[in-house]
Amino acid sequence: SKDDLILPKDFPQLQNDTFLRAARGEETEHVPVWCMRQAGRYLPEFRESRAGKDFFETCRSPAACCELTLQPLRRFPFDAAIIFSDILVVPQAMGMDVQMVPGKGPTFPEPLKEPEDLQRLRVKVDVDKELGYVFKAITLTRHKIEGKVPLIGFTGAPWTLMSYMIEGGGSNTHSKAKRWLYRHPEASHMLLKMLTDVIVEYLLGQVAAGAQALQVFESHAGILGPAEFKEFSLPYLRDIARRVKDKLKEAGKDVPMIAFAKDAHYGLEDLSQSHYEVVGLDWTIDPRSARERTGGKVSLQGNMDPCALYAPKERISDIVKKMLEGFGTRGYIANLGHGLYPDMDPENVGAFVKAVHQHSKQMIKQ
Ligand code: CP3
Repeated sequence: SKDDLILPKDFPQLQNDTFLRAARGEETEHVPVWCMRQAGRYLPEFRESRAGKDFFETCRSPAACCELTLQPLRRFPFDAAIIFSDILVVPQAMGMDVQMVPGKGPTFPEPLKEPEDLQRLRVKVDVDKELGYVFKAITLTRHKIEGKVPLIGFTGAPWTLMSYMIEGGGSNTHSKAKRWLYRHPEASHMLLKMLTDVIVEYLLGQVAAGAQALQVFESHAGILGPAEFKEFSLPYLRDIARRVKDKLKEAGKDVPMIAFAKDAHYGLEDLSQSHYEVVGLDWTIDPRSARERTGGKVSLQGNMDPCALYAPKERISDIVKKMLEGFGTRGYIANLGHGLYPDMDPENVGAFVKAVHQHSKQMIKQ
């Protein structure tokens, strides 16, 4: 098809670099804003595009991913876009079957049960072959976005992906996955290492395809305690950033990386010294204390409670103003503390974006 001929070069020039500047701690005229899950079911046009189609089938169509990535930008003046995809494409690339079951969420028909099951995973993953469709989606989107805003690529972090691969889907206790950490620590490290190797290649492939920033989602950090986080999550997050950055440096590229470890308040100091330019925060952390604890070492991203979007617009504006005062306007990227929910009103998302821009412009002028 024609899209196959689109190459990762001659991209339209970037017009709004506010997000990239904030990630590097540079001055901006306003605080940039984007939302996790900004391409999602809260948008009627998203539901329309996805209607009747299998979720991972959609993920494998570069044209569909491009369209879904661009949809929220047509409505709201977001300062960044995140490529439409899913973190679970990595376990798929390693040979696991994953289905998206409507009303239930992601489901692995054959999750990993015991360490012997690691033998079912591909020893060497050809990332270009298995995940080339994501790279194509990124390249196509970089062309079609016309330089409006930067495009963020992403991955799940090793522990979060490991927990899905063992639990086989969502879980309240994550006890099957945590059982591995306490009963099979060596096999756990083996699996985390295998995931790390694939993730590093995957992120580098996304940058080669055109991604201008990278976010690593450690969505299940909060079910670990501080000691387990230090042993099973942090070293791999660090290894990913260090290896990706070393390789990018060789290529003369500088791509900001964001670590989002949800509910890992205990890990904030460590995360701010882990080679990521930006640390993403969930809503359980107070902005001022997050600044104090990270001591200007990194830019911060977050962290309004997504549920604050259920408030009336004026109240959203007040909450945003307080959040901006807490974080300050420098080295800050406004976002929610987690993704948007399907029942949220697009109008209130618009009010959130507008409030960030308006309040921050005023604060920066003064
Ligand atoms: O807009 C964006 O943020 C970009 C796209 C994106 C999706 N998933 C699309 C998606 C991103 C960044 C993700 C990451 C992701 N996927 C995470 C990490 C972020 C987080 O939420 O902590 C996780 C844990 C997953 C796994 C996953 N995929 C879950 C738990 C679900 C929800 C299942 C459900 O039924 O609600 C998904 C599905 C999914 N991924 C949807 C979207 C827009 C909704 C399903 C659909 O469109 O049919």
